[in-house]
Amino acid sequence: MEVIISPSLLSANVCNYGEDFKVFNEKNIKAIHIDIMDGHYVPNLSFGLDQVAALRKLTDIEFDVHLMVTDPDKFVEPLVEAGANSITIHAEVATHMYKSIHYLKSFGIKAGVAVNPATPISCLEHIYPLVNRVLIMSVEPGFGGQSFIPIALDKIKELNEIKKKGNFDFTIQVDGGITLDNIKEVIDCGARDIVIGSSLFKQDLSQNIDLFENVISEIKNIP
Ligand code: DX5
Ligand code: ZN
Repeated sequence: MEVIISPSLLSANVCNYGEDFKVFNEKNIKAIHIDIMDGHYVPNLSFGLDQVAALRKLTDIEFDVHLMVTDPDKFVEPLVEAGANSITIHAEVATHMYKSIHYLKSFGIKAGVAVNPATPISCLEHIYPLVNRVLIMSVEPGFGGQSFIPIALDKIKELNEIKKKGNFDFTIQVDGGITLDNIKEVIDCGARDIVIGSSLFKQDLSQNIDLFENVISEIKNIP
């Protein structure tokens, strides 16, 4: 299975989206990670629906929306209309997770579920066959530029074992604090979709993508 880098737009310079999107297109980026926050579930605000719709015009690359809001169902339909191809909701606020995942899938998009560093993955046991993506948060959600919380490594490993044993289809995504120093470790544990914010957008985006891709290409035999 291939490993992909998903740039997290939260760390990008708003004045530079046009140039950054050109780089994403040129570098054959497979998914752009868009964090949506409501200032309630997490103490921050980020992109709105109009911004997602405006950005949609710049590329055909998958928009992977990470929904950090208290009431995720409310935003699914407008986000799909704005151009989201994939939406991940947080297990901590998905009171009716089974229903919410079915609701997401009814729009023909990819459905994901995320767990914060202190949330055990056991709460996902019954939805593994339903989801396309499980997101292991390696920082507390809300802000870019935080340090990686190592507890995520054990969770990725545990999840990867469950995935293999159950022959499930979901992709393991990791988000938060990924750097050139720890990307190999998360891939070795089983992560295949690597969300990267601040480490990618500091200085030269294009060069940074190459540096991360080089580390990935040096990892042999990724199952
Ligand atoms: C945090 C967001 C992340 C964030 C990652 O709540 O979900 O996507 O942008 O940024 P870095 O890579 O800087 O931790
Ligand atoms: Zn995110």
